[in-house]
Amino acid sequence: MTELPESIRERAKELRREINHHDYLYHVLDSPEIPDKKYDLMMNELIKLEKEYPGLFTPDSPTQRIGGKPGEGFGTINHRVPMLSLGNAFNEGELRDFDQRVKSKLDSKNVQYVVELKIDGLAVSLYYENGIFVKGATRGNGETGEDITTNLKTIPSIPLKLKDDLTIETRGEVYMTKTSFLELNNTREEAEITPFANPRNAAAGALRQLDPKITASRQLSVFMYSIGYYESNYFSNQEQLLNFLKTQGFRVNPHYYLCQNINEVIDYCKIWQDTRFDLNYTIDGLVVKVNSIDYQEILGNTLKNPRWAIAFKFPPEEAVTKIIDITLNVGRTGALTPTAILEPVSLAGTTVKKAALHNDDYIKEKDIRIGDTVLVHKAGDIIPEIVGVKKEKRSGEENKFKMPSVCPVCGADAVRQEGEAITRCTGAACPAQLQEGLIHFASRGAMDIEGLGPAVINHLVNKGLVKNVSDLYYLCKEDLVKLERMGNKSAKNLLEAIDKSRSNPLYRLIYGLGIFHVGERTARLLAQHFKCIDNLINAEENEITVIPEIGPTIAKSITTFMKQDQNLTLIEKLKSAGINMHAQNENTREKLQGLTFILTGTLENFTRTEAREKIESLGGKVSSSVSKNTDYLIAGDNPGTKINKAKQLGINILNEDGFQYLIADD
Ligand code: IVH
Repeated sequence: MTELPESIRERAKELRREINHHDYLYHVLDSPEIPDKKYDLMMNELIKLEKEYPGLFTPDSPTQRIGGKPGEGFGTINHRVPMLSLGNAFNEGELRDFDQRVKSKLDSKNVQYVVELKIDGLAVSLYYENGIFVKGATRGNGETGEDITTNLKTIPSIPLKLKDDLTIETRGEVYMTKTSFLELNNTREEAEITPFANPRNAAAGALRQLDPKITASRQLSVFMYSIGYYESNYFSNQEQLLNFLKTQGFRVNPHYYLCQNINEVIDYCKIWQDTRFDLNYTIDGLVVKVNSIDYQEILGNTLKNPRWAIAFKFPPEEAVTKIIDITLNVGRTGALTPTAILEPVSLAGTTVKKAALHNDDYIKEKDIRIGDTVLVHKAGDIIPEIVGVKKEKRSGEENKFKMPSVCPVCGADAVRQEGEAITRCTGAACPAQLQEGLIHFASRGAMDIEGLGPAVINHLVNKGLVKNVSDLYYLCKEDLVKLERMGNKSAKNLLEAIDKSRSNPLYRLIYGLGIFHVGERTARLLAQHFKCIDNLINAEENEITVIPEIGPTIAKSITTFMKQDQNLTLIEKLKSAGINMHAQNENTREKLQGLTFILTGTLENFTRTEAREKIESLGGKVSSSVSKNTDYLIAGDNPGTKINKAKQLGINILNEDGFQYLIADD
């Protein structure tokens, strides 16, 4: 073994301290301080050192987060203190009953409660010995859970080391954000893998992966809310406990409230009934906890539930509406997907007009017909779904849906292969497939070609001007002005936007190619690792899986894509059209991730909406009022009073040039 010089040990220590600190700032506090590039450089240096000097290994090294080798299966962990579940209250009356039970057992009239959000994820227990994360488990049956330590280490908001050298078991909920869930389901749908029904199932699937790299790629997060085993009392009530967790480096949900009595509890619960739809994660209720730990101990537990806490569950959000029609969409791969067009109905914070019907079997199983009255809900608060048909409302006028035997767009045979659920258009030149491929290519996450939306693409395809994505780069003004509603100015702008996309970062092209399983983040990782398209074309599967987060399924999909002659010809044509095929500074995180902006005054080159969209497309947020959480105020001409407040708070103020510089590609 290579001898381990003291200077190397010190450097590794320093890198770990720095990386852990920046992980904490980024993932726990949502306020990063350094650019991604700098973070990546530190991580790469540490990985290299640990490879060269295996003696450097420590279980709390941030390199452990990347996800090691796939495991054979999960061991079990016996919880030192059982993980109980909560009793439920479904209405105000049941909350008052709970309050009565608590007060009578305590023989007290004044009981404070802490009310927290009930995160709809998976309960986990994390064990720390002398401040180091040593193991973690699922709840299991409450007595024994599964040992998912390696997977938990990939979750960046779980600290690998606490602030103090404590031996303690903490508990919380692992969840997936709605954004990550939708992104994951999009990728799955594109790859024709059954999408997850809700973020909770997606998070559960990710946590129970035998390959920790897959867990790492699913972008899970955690909120901690309680403590199982501990050696001494660091707190005397739930509010202090939450603060204690925060000071040790855990991520704690900011929305909790100390209520002086049950009326305040009920009011707080009511607030969240609607506000919950604004959160980027799902909650299925609130948890009401007696604040005082002494009281909690007096109250104790029943066999299954604590007597000092209860879950207030929201009633299910459902609505009744009518199916006006069932339409078919032909996807990039020719898949014919039916969608129910609904009479618009208000549900869980939005107006619902459509619900996915997935495939023929799904429609048959539920016996869904055009004209039916149906009950809809939103799976995981996000995805409209038909729960069931109100058959008693049928008049006999309803029409059964029949999957056509030809593609509704190109007329080629539509075929359902044996063993498959999906019916597919077999037309090699199907304009709908081409159109969907082009929409993806031009989309914001991919080549980001402004002005090249579905309508223009539709005209281009119908006129036969574009037969594959590379044809876009050979369009001229004369071609464009022939299109409906395309004036000289729009044609000029579109050509400029297409031209500009030639020098896009490489990841945009990789994503735009539409390879199964390759989402935006994977594309970034590939670009960063392989540096140019030729290296990616020639890569073997095992050369791709060395990338943290990329497992064998994605790798196989890439090599399969890169072996097809027609794909290679397309890439050659794109090369000849002058598209950038090399990585410059590809970031693995969005440029403005975690940054909050305020817009004020008139900008010359952007409308408000455009500026907002640009910021959001780069991962930033736009807020309406200046606070200490604001990172930048962008001031155009005639700024409002917000600029004064920003000055008072010492917030960075940028003019339009500064803004352009900030958002420009590296
Ligand atoms: S406290 C004794 N607090 O809800 C039980 N649980 O049915 C202590 N949950 O298994 C749990 N958010 O998975 C608590 N803020 C929160 C929670 C929460 C979600 C989950 C947890 C638990 C289930 C109870």
